[in-house]
Amino acid sequence: MRKTIAVMTSGGDSPGMNAATRAVVRTAVQSGARIFGIYNGYRGLLENDMVEMNRRSVSDIIQRGGTILGTARSQEFTTPEGRAKAAENLRERGVEGVIVIGGDGSLRGAQHLADEQGIAVVGLPGTIDNDIWGMDYTIGSDTAANTIIDAINKLRDTASAHRRIAVLEVMGRHSGWLALITGMSGGAEYILVPEELYDLHQIASEIRAMYDENQKRYVLIVVAEGAGSAIDIGIKLEEMTGIDTRASVLGHIQRGGSPTVMDRVYASVLGEKATLALLSGVSNVVYGVKHGRIVNVNLYDAVTKKKQLDPEYIRMAKVLA
Ligand code: F6P
Repeated sequence: MRKTIAVMTSGGDSPGMNAATRAVVRTAVQSGARIFGIYNGYRGLLENDMVEMNRRSVSDIIQRGGTILGTARSQEFTTPEGRAKAAENLRERGVEGVIVIGGDGSLRGAQHLADEQGIAVVGLPGTIDNDIWGMDYTIGSDTAANTIIDAINKLRDTASAHRRIAVLEVMGRHSGWLALITGMSGGAEYILVPEELYDLHQIASEIRAMYDENQKRYVLIVVAEGAGSAIDIGIKLEEMTGIDTRASVLGHIQRGGSPTVMDRVYASVLGEKATLALLSGVSNVVYGVKHGRIVNVNLYDAVTKKKQLDPEYIRMAKVLA
Protein backbone atom coordinates (compact mmCIF):
# COMPACT_ATOMS: atom_id res chain seq x y z
CA MET A 1 0.00 0.00 0.00
CA ARG A 2 1.43 3.39 -1.05
CA LYS A 3 1.20 6.08 1.61
CA THR A 4 2.12 9.33 -0.18
CA ILE A 5 0.98 10.38 -3.63
CA ALA A 6 0.54 13.57 -5.67
CA VAL A 7 -1.89 14.91 -8.24
CA MET A 8 -1.37 17.33 -11.11
CA THR A 9 -3.22 18.74 -14.11
CA SER A 10 -1.28 19.25 -17.30
CA GLY A 11 -1.61 20.46 -20.91
CA GLY A 12 -4.75 22.26 -22.06
CA ASP A 13 -7.25 22.56 -19.22
CA SER A 14 -10.66 20.92 -19.55
CA PRO A 15 -13.94 21.29 -17.64
CA GLY A 16 -14.10 18.54 -15.02
CA MET A 17 -10.41 18.61 -14.13
CA ASN A 18 -11.40 20.15 -10.79
CA ALA A 19 -14.00 17.46 -10.16
CA ALA A 20 -11.28 14.86 -10.84
CA THR A 21 -8.79 16.60 -8.54
CA ARG A 22 -11.43 16.73 -5.82
CA ALA A 23 -12.13 13.02 -6.15
CA VAL A 24 -8.42 12.16 -6.07
CA VAL A 25 -7.71 14.26 -2.97
CA ARG A 26 -10.74 13.06 -1.02
CA THR A 27 -10.18 9.42 -1.91
CA ALA A 28 -6.55 9.62 -0.83
CA VAL A 29 -7.42 11.32 2.47
CA GLN A 30 -10.23 8.84 3.10
CA SER A 31 -7.75 6.00 2.55
CA GLY A 32 -5.36 7.45 5.13
CA ALA A 33 -2.73 8.54 2.58
CA ARG A 34 -0.93 11.88 2.23
CA ILE A 35 -1.68 13.77 -0.96
CA PHE A 36 0.28 16.64 -2.53
CA GLY A 37 -1.15 18.95 -5.18
CA ILE A 38 1.43 19.96 -7.79
CA TYR A 39 0.84 23.44 -9.21
CA ASN A 40 1.15 24.35 -12.90
CA GLY A 41 1.77 20.92 -14.36
CA TYR A 42 5.27 19.65 -15.13
CA ARG A 43 6.69 23.17 -14.87
CA GLY A 44 5.51 23.38 -11.26
CA LEU A 45 6.88 19.92 -10.58
CA LEU A 46 10.30 21.05 -11.80
CA GLU A 47 10.05 24.17 -9.65
CA ASN A 48 9.05 22.05 -6.64
CA ASP A 49 5.79 23.95 -6.47
CA MET A 50 3.55 21.62 -4.49
CA VAL A 51 1.51 21.65 -1.33
CA GLU A 52 -0.05 19.01 0.88
CA MET A 53 -3.82 18.95 0.46
CA ASN A 54 -6.74 17.94 2.66
CA ARG A 55 -10.50 17.52 2.17
CA ARG A 56 -11.08 21.25 2.54
CA SER A 57 -8.47 22.14 -0.11
CA VAL A 58 -10.90 20.91 -2.75
CA SER A 59 -14.14 22.36 -1.35
CA ASP A 60 -16.40 24.30 -3.69
CA ILE A 61 -14.60 23.34 -6.91
CA ILE A 62 -16.72 20.55 -8.46
CA GLN A 63 -18.75 23.13 -10.40
CA ARG A 64 -15.79 25.15 -11.66
CA GLY A 65 -14.13 24.95 -15.09
CA GLY A 66 -10.38 25.44 -15.52
CA THR A 67 -8.15 23.86 -12.88
CA ILE A 68 -7.37 25.16 -9.39
CA LEU A 69 -3.98 23.45 -9.65
CA GLY A 70 -3.12 25.42 -12.76
CA THR A 71 -1.49 23.94 -15.83
CA ALA A 72 1.45 24.76 -18.09
CA ARG A 73 3.56 23.32 -20.85
CA SER A 74 7.22 22.70 -19.94
CA GLN A 75 10.06 22.39 -22.44
CA GLU A 76 12.50 21.27 -19.73
CA PHE A 77 10.36 18.28 -18.76
CA THR A 78 10.68 16.92 -22.31
CA THR A 79 14.37 16.17 -21.59
CA PRO A 80 15.63 13.20 -19.50
CA GLU A 81 17.56 15.68 -17.29
CA GLY A 82 14.37 17.59 -16.60
CA ARG A 83 12.53 14.41 -15.69
CA ALA A 84 15.35 13.34 -13.35
CA LYS A 85 15.01 16.65 -11.52
CA ALA A 86 11.22 16.22 -11.35
CA ALA A 87 11.60 12.74 -9.86
CA GLU A 88 14.07 14.08 -7.32
CA ASN A 89 11.54 16.70 -6.17
CA LEU A 90 8.96 13.97 -5.69
CA ARG A 91 11.31 11.62 -3.80
CA GLU A 92 12.38 14.45 -1.48
CA ARG A 93 8.83 14.58 -0.15
CA GLY A 94 8.39 10.83 -0.11
CA VAL A 95 5.93 10.88 -3.02
CA GLU A 96 5.67 7.35 -4.38
CA GLY A 97 3.23 7.92 -7.20
CA VAL A 98 1.47 10.62 -9.22
CA ILE A 99 -1.97 10.96 -10.76
CA VAL A 100 -1.58 12.93 -13.98
CA ILE A 101 -4.77 14.48 -15.38
CA GLY A 102 -4.22 15.59 -18.98
CA GLY A 103 -4.25 14.84 -22.67
CA ASP A 104 -1.96 12.70 -24.83
CA GLY A 105 1.14 14.90 -24.48
CA SER A 106 0.81 15.02 -20.70
CA LEU A 107 0.29 11.28 -20.46
CA ARG A 108 3.34 10.74 -22.69
CA GLY A 109 5.35 12.79 -20.19
CA ALA A 110 3.99 10.62 -17.38
CA GLN A 111 5.02 7.48 -19.22
CA HIS A 112 8.60 8.76 -19.58
CA LEU A 113 8.66 9.66 -15.88
CA ALA A 114 7.59 6.13 -15.00
CA ASP A 115 9.95 4.39 -17.44
CA GLU A 116 13.06 6.42 -16.75
CA GLN A 117 12.65 7.31 -13.10
CA GLY A 118 10.54 4.47 -11.71
CA ILE A 119 7.90 6.87 -10.38
CA ALA A 120 4.50 5.17 -10.31
CA VAL A 121 1.97 6.99 -12.47
CA VAL A 122 -1.73 6.59 -13.13
CA GLY A 123 -3.34 8.78 -15.79
CA LEU A 124 -6.76 10.36 -16.08
CA PRO A 125 -7.82 11.53 -19.57
CA GLY A 126 -8.35 15.29 -19.26
CA THR A 127 -8.83 16.92 -22.66
CA ILE A 128 -11.74 18.36 -24.60
CA ASP A 129 -10.41 16.64 -27.75
CA ASN A 130 -11.57 13.12 -26.79
CA ASP A 131 -8.61 11.61 -28.60
CA ILE A 132 -7.10 9.13 -26.14
CA TRP A 133 -6.77 5.63 -27.52
CA GLY A 134 -8.70 2.81 -25.83
CA MET A 135 -11.59 4.88 -24.50
CA ASP A 136 -14.75 6.61 -25.76
CA TYR A 137 -14.67 9.55 -23.43
CA THR A 138 -12.31 12.13 -21.94
CA ILE A 139 -13.01 14.53 -19.08
CA GLY A 140 -14.23 17.86 -20.48
CA SER A 141 -15.26 16.65 -23.92
CA ASP A 142 -18.96 16.65 -23.04
CA THR A 143 -18.95 20.22 -21.70
CA ALA A 144 -16.98 21.46 -24.73
CA ALA A 145 -19.39 19.71 -27.13
CA ASN A 146 -22.35 21.33 -25.37
CA THR A 147 -20.72 24.77 -25.53
CA ILE A 148 -20.21 24.29 -29.27
CA ILE A 149 -23.80 23.17 -29.79
CA ASP A 150 -25.01 26.32 -28.10
CA ALA A 151 -22.93 28.35 -30.58
CA ILE A 152 -24.20 26.29 -33.51
CA ASN A 153 -27.83 26.87 -32.53
CA LYS A 154 -27.23 30.60 -32.47
CA LEU A 155 -25.34 30.57 -35.76
CA ARG A 156 -28.15 28.68 -37.44
CA ASP A 157 -30.66 31.37 -36.48
CA THR A 158 -28.72 34.17 -38.11
CA ALA A 159 -27.46 32.14 -41.09
CA SER A 160 -31.03 31.12 -41.86
CA ALA A 161 -32.30 34.70 -41.59
CA HIS A 162 -29.81 35.86 -44.26
CA ARG A 163 -29.58 32.71 -46.43
CA ARG A 164 -25.85 32.65 -45.74
CA ILE A 165 -23.17 30.03 -45.51
CA ALA A 166 -21.93 29.82 -41.91
CA VAL A 167 -18.49 28.33 -41.27
CA LEU A 168 -17.66 27.54 -37.65
CA GLU A 169 -14.15 26.58 -36.54
CA VAL A 170 -13.90 24.43 -33.44
CA MET A 171 -10.88 23.11 -31.55
CA GLY A 172 -9.05 19.94 -32.50
CA ARG A 173 -5.55 20.37 -33.87
CA HIS A 174 -5.09 16.67 -34.51
CA SER A 175 -8.53 15.30 -33.77
CA GLY A 176 -11.87 15.89 -35.47
CA TRP A 177 -13.99 14.37 -32.70
CA LEU A 178 -15.46 17.67 -31.48
CA ALA A 179 -16.24 18.79 -35.04
CA LEU A 180 -17.80 15.43 -35.92
CA ILE A 181 -19.98 15.07 -32.83
CA THR A 182 -21.18 18.68 -32.82
CA GLY A 183 -21.56 18.87 -36.59
CA MET A 184 -23.66 15.73 -36.47
CA SER A 185 -25.81 16.82 -33.56
CA GLY A 186 -26.00 20.39 -34.86
CA GLY A 187 -27.21 19.30 -38.31
CA ALA A 188 -24.21 20.62 -40.26
CA GLU A 189 -24.19 20.11 -44.04
CA TYR A 190 -20.42 19.60 -44.03
CA ILE A 191 -17.98 18.52 -41.32
CA LEU A 192 -14.28 19.01 -42.08
CA VAL A 193 -11.84 17.02 -39.92
CA PRO A 194 -8.05 16.51 -40.05
CA GLU A 195 -8.56 12.76 -40.44
CA GLU A 196 -10.31 13.09 -43.84
CA LEU A 197 -9.47 14.81 -47.10
CA TYR A 198 -12.01 17.21 -48.57
CA ASP A 199 -12.38 19.07 -51.84
CA LEU A 200 -13.49 22.68 -51.44
CA HIS A 201 -14.35 23.01 -55.15
CA GLN A 202 -16.67 20.04 -54.88
CA ILE A 203 -18.27 21.45 -51.72
CA ALA A 204 -18.72 24.85 -53.41
CA SER A 205 -20.43 23.38 -56.46
CA GLU A 206 -22.74 21.26 -54.28
CA ILE A 207 -23.72 24.29 -52.21
CA ARG A 208 -24.34 26.36 -55.37
CA ALA A 209 -26.65 23.62 -56.64
CA MET A 210 -28.48 23.41 -53.28
CA TYR A 211 -29.18 27.16 -53.45
CA ASP A 212 -30.13 27.13 -57.14
CA GLU A 213 -32.57 24.28 -56.59
CA ASN A 214 -33.88 25.92 -53.42
CA GLN A 215 -33.08 22.80 -51.40
CA LYS A 216 -31.49 24.68 -48.51
CA ARG A 217 -32.15 28.04 -46.97
CA TYR A 218 -28.63 28.19 -45.54
CA VAL A 219 -25.60 25.96 -45.09
CA LEU A 220 -23.61 25.21 -41.94
CA ILE A 221 -20.04 23.95 -42.11
CA VAL A 222 -18.19 22.86 -38.96
CA VAL A 223 -14.42 22.70 -39.37
CA ALA A 224 -11.88 21.35 -36.87
CA GLU A 225 -8.93 23.74 -36.54
CA GLY A 226 -6.59 20.99 -37.76
CA ALA A 227 -8.55 20.72 -41.03
CA GLY A 228 -8.22 24.39 -41.99
CA SER A 229 -9.04 27.93 -41.00
CA ALA A 230 -12.72 28.91 -41.03
CA ILE A 231 -11.75 32.41 -42.17
CA ASP A 232 -9.80 31.13 -45.22
CA ILE A 233 -12.44 28.56 -46.05
CA GLY A 234 -15.16 31.22 -45.77
CA ILE A 235 -13.35 33.61 -48.12
CA LYS A 236 -12.76 30.87 -50.70
CA LEU A 237 -16.32 29.56 -50.54
CA GLU A 238 -17.79 33.03 -51.00
CA GLU A 239 -15.58 33.53 -54.06
CA MET A 240 -16.45 30.14 -55.52
CA THR A 241 -20.21 30.23 -54.85
CA GLY A 242 -21.05 33.91 -54.92
CA ILE A 243 -23.07 33.29 -51.73
CA ASP A 244 -22.74 35.58 -48.74
CA THR A 245 -20.57 33.70 -46.21
CA ARG A 246 -19.60 34.37 -42.58
CA ALA A 247 -16.90 32.62 -40.57
CA SER A 248 -16.73 32.29 -36.78
CA VAL A 249 -13.86 30.97 -34.68
CA LEU A 250 -15.10 29.76 -31.30
CA GLY A 251 -11.62 29.57 -29.76
CA HIS A 252 -10.96 29.13 -26.07
CA ILE A 253 -14.56 29.78 -25.05
CA GLN A 254 -15.13 26.10 -25.77
CA ARG A 255 -12.47 25.06 -23.21
CA GLY A 256 -14.04 26.85 -20.23
CA GLY A 257 -17.30 26.78 -18.33
CA SER A 258 -18.96 24.80 -15.60
CA PRO A 259 -18.72 21.06 -16.32
CA THR A 260 -21.83 19.13 -17.37
CA VAL A 261 -23.29 16.43 -15.16
CA MET A 262 -21.62 13.80 -17.35
CA ASP A 263 -18.18 15.37 -16.94
CA ARG A 264 -18.62 15.75 -13.18
CA VAL A 265 -19.81 12.19 -12.70
CA TYR A 266 -17.13 10.54 -14.83
CA ALA A 267 -14.39 12.79 -13.43
CA SER A 268 -15.44 11.78 -9.91
CA VAL A 269 -15.73 8.07 -10.64
CA LEU A 270 -12.49 7.91 -12.62
CA GLY A 271 -10.69 10.00 -9.99
CA GLU A 272 -11.67 7.61 -7.23
CA LYS A 273 -10.78 4.48 -9.20
CA ALA A 274 -7.42 5.86 -10.31
CA THR A 275 -6.48 6.86 -6.77
CA LEU A 276 -7.43 3.55 -5.22
CA ALA A 277 -5.44 1.80 -7.93
CA LEU A 278 -2.34 3.96 -7.43
CA LEU A 279 -2.51 3.54 -3.64
CA SER A 280 -2.82 -0.23 -3.97
CA GLY A 281 0.37 -0.50 -6.06
CA VAL A 282 -0.86 -0.17 -9.65
CA SER A 283 1.13 1.92 -12.14
CA ASN A 284 1.33 2.72 -15.87
CA VAL A 285 -2.37 2.71 -16.62
CA VAL A 286 -4.93 5.31 -17.67
CA TYR A 287 -8.48 5.07 -16.36
CA GLY A 288 -11.25 5.75 -18.86
CA VAL A 289 -14.74 4.84 -20.01
CA LYS A 290 -15.44 2.43 -22.84
CA HIS A 291 -18.90 1.23 -23.86
CA GLY A 292 -20.23 2.81 -20.67
CA ARG A 293 -17.87 0.88 -18.38
CA ILE A 294 -14.81 1.95 -16.43
CA VAL A 295 -11.67 0.50 -17.99
CA ASN A 296 -7.97 0.81 -17.43
CA VAL A 297 -5.79 1.09 -20.49
CA ASN A 298 -2.08 0.43 -20.60
CA LEU A 299 -0.32 3.80 -20.46
CA TYR A 300 2.09 2.93 -23.27
CA ASP A 301 -0.79 1.93 -25.57
CA ALA A 302 -2.75 5.06 -24.66
CA VAL A 303 0.09 7.34 -25.72
CA THR A 304 1.41 5.47 -28.74
CA LYS A 305 -1.74 4.29 -30.50
CA LYS A 306 -3.90 6.68 -32.48
CA LYS A 307 -7.59 6.81 -31.72
CA GLN A 308 -9.65 6.82 -34.93
CA LEU A 309 -12.91 8.62 -35.53
CA ASP A 310 -15.85 6.23 -35.69
CA PRO A 311 -16.37 5.61 -39.45
CA GLU A 312 -20.05 4.90 -38.81
CA TYR A 313 -20.48 8.42 -37.42
CA ILE A 314 -18.67 9.91 -40.40
CA ARG A 315 -20.94 7.99 -42.76
CA MET A 316 -24.11 8.87 -40.87
CA ALA A 317 -23.26 12.56 -40.63
CA LYS A 318 -23.13 12.62 -44.46
CA VAL A 319 -26.39 10.71 -44.86
CA LEU A 320 -28.25 12.95 -42.45
CA ALA A 321 -26.84 16.29 -43.64
O1 F6P B 1 -5.51 19.78 -26.61
C1 F6P B 1 -6.60 20.56 -26.34
C2 F6P B 1 -6.67 21.77 -27.19
O2 F6P B 1 -7.81 22.47 -26.79
C3 F6P B 1 -6.68 21.54 -28.71
O3 F6P B 1 -7.93 21.19 -29.23
C4 F6P B 1 -6.21 22.87 -29.20
O4 F6P B 1 -5.64 22.75 -30.47
C5 F6P B 1 -5.17 23.25 -28.20
O5 F6P B 1 -5.57 22.63 -26.99
C6 F6P B 1 -5.01 24.72 -28.00
O6 F6P B 1 -4.02 24.93 -27.05
P1 F6P B 1 -3.57 26.34 -26.46
O7 F6P B 1 -4.36 26.54 -25.21
O8 F6P B 1 -2.12 26.16 -26.18
O9 F6P B 1 -3.89 27.37 -27.47
